[in-house]
Amino acid sequence: MCGIVGYIGPRNTLGILLNGLSTLEYRGYDSAGVSFIQDGRLELIKKKGYVKELREAVAQAGFTLDDRHTNRISAGIGHTRWATHGAPSDENSHPHMSMNGKLCVVHNGIIENYAELRRFLKKKGYVFASETDTEVAAQLIEYYYGLNDNKDINAAVRRALKDIVGSYALCVLCVDEPDRLICAKKDNPIVLGIGKGENFIASDVTAMIEYTKDVVFLEDNWILTMTKDSVEITDVYGDPVEYKVEAVVWDADSVQKGGYAHFMMKEMHEEPKIFEATVEPRIKDGDIYLEHFPVDEEYMKGIHNINIIACGTAFHAGCVGKYLIEKLCRIPVVCTVASEFIYSDPIIDEHTLTLVISQSGETLDTRNAMKKAKELGSGTLAIVNVIGSTIAREADNVLYTAAGPEISVASTKAYVAQLGCLYLIALKFAHVLGKLDKEKYEYYQNELLQIPDKLEQILRKQTDIQRFASTHFNVESTFFIGRGLDYFLSMETSLKLKEISYIHSEAYAGGELKHGTIALIEDGTLVVCPITQDDLVSKMESNIKEVATRGATVLAIVPERFRDIKFSCDVRFTIPDCDELMAPILGVLPCQIFAYYMAVYKGCDVDKPRNLAKSVTVE
Ligand code: F6R
Repeated sequence: MCGIVGYIGPRNTLGILLNGLSTLEYRGYDSAGVSFIQDGRLELIKKKGYVKELREAVAQAGFTLDDRHTNRISAGIGHTRWATHGAPSDENSHPHMSMNGKLCVVHNGIIENYAELRRFLKKKGYVFASETDTEVAAQLIEYYYGLNDNKDINAAVRRALKDIVGSYALCVLCVDEPDRLICAKKDNPIVLGIGKGENFIASDVTAMIEYTKDVVFLEDNWILTMTKDSVEITDVYGDPVEYKVEAVVWDADSVQKGGYAHFMMKEMHEEPKIFEATVEPRIKDGDIYLEHFPVDEEYMKGIHNINIIACGTAFHAGCVGKYLIEKLCRIPVVCTVASEFIYSDPIIDEHTLTLVISQSGETLDTRNAMKKAKELGSGTLAIVNVIGSTIAREADNVLYTAAGPEISVASTKAYVAQLGCLYLIALKFAHVLGKLDKEKYEYYQNELLQIPDKLEQILRKQTDIQRFASTHFNVESTFFIGRGLDYFLSMETSLKLKEISYIHSEAYAGGELKHGTIALIEDGTLVVCPITQDDLVSKMESNIKEVATRGATVLAIVPERFRDIKFSCDVRFTIPDCDELMAPILGVLPCQIFAYYMAVYKGCDVDKPRNLAKSVTVE
């Protein structure tokens, strides 16, 4: 969702801000803006639309983005907005300038009591130029700044925060203090990047890794004051807090397309490498190590049930996790969509382990669900991709997926890495519980270690899928049908197709078709059937026959060992053989490639699908 960048230092500030905003585009947004102090003047340029249009507006206003020009800007902030309060428009875009032009504010999050604060400020004579909750913060800070004898912007921000109810990552630029930036955080991520004679802030590290790898993930209720040479972090009372500088392991290339047409294609091609990086270091001498997560027999015997919470793609990974853990460990597992979990009355106590799955580590629904599970006494283990993210920090333990930055809104490589962690967890738990003997335990580890090569083999055949998509991209409706693990695979790939190609798509359990949905199958409907489980072959062939006789075109995705089996499909795509338990990891890749090409042939903006945001920080 919204993105923030801020910079103080000798480089061309506008160049840093606009490049940073371009990097944050993947989070999803509908307008963008910058504010900066040049020669003591507070400037503001903002627009509905993309960063490209903002760049043009900046150039038209006569400002240079060229790094070779001397930087006359003492500090600057930038923002990409994903509309919540007020439609996308120039006025509602951030930054918001206070009425008397003293300061500009960018904000991620929601000010819940904004209507009340707006009424208060109106009584004090403040006039509003937008419909946003953020403008209220700008006016309120200015109001307290005016009352404050010492004219200290940090004190004014801290005072205003006492009145604000809601969530925020807030950054403030004040014309009277042209060399300082003030940031505040509650329930929304903001990262400080520490350079030499320069400092950065951004919603995530991708916007700054080109310049610095030394970062501080701000905690809730911290206030940061930075100049180009100094960093001061306090709590809301102004007392210094202890903070840790961490080194980012991601490199700058990981946020570039690297020759691929889209990030999504690049990220699918990274799947072999990131699966290996997630799994291989955790397998040593025939055993699995889950870093700092203590798993011994005594601990496992104390776990009576497992609860999995996640959203979207991460939820689909969780469904596979449920299947694996129940099958291998014989522990009951409930996997719930995080946004529904908070309204449920789950059976959870101190004998429950909650697995929380999130690529971004910031999804608000997932965070809320994790909070509820903790309140009920459950221990938490988070499977997270973004290092230092909120879920990673708030969970009792974390297992990082080594997917690197995922820029495409549609999650692909992070899903595969999440599966990698879930297989490791299920195998380790099962072995510790004595449900998986050493021989089988090592056999499965070996199967996992062979996955990267097999993913490579699939990528080498991607043109087969491309060819199929090139002749079917204008279908109106697609159904993904699978049974057992293939049903979860169908759920995930159906989501992928609909989110990037806007083609109506549904996933159905093969056995459910005849209970209603088959009424929708007609001439020209496209049906994709992953069939990877040996004992489900004949059942799935019956499903294919049922839809084919009603006019559907069927693409089947099957392992090599089914080569001699006749299916009534129109086209089949073959994936390498593996133990059938591991098949979801291989089966998903051709389906992701299929969704990708369907979207490309339809002319869709693959990496930035309409209405979607990468990091969903609202409920
Ligand atoms: C789909 C997709 C979303 C996310 C969901 C959860 O491609 O990316 O469905 O999986 O919004 O996000 P995270 O994993 O960041 O919690």
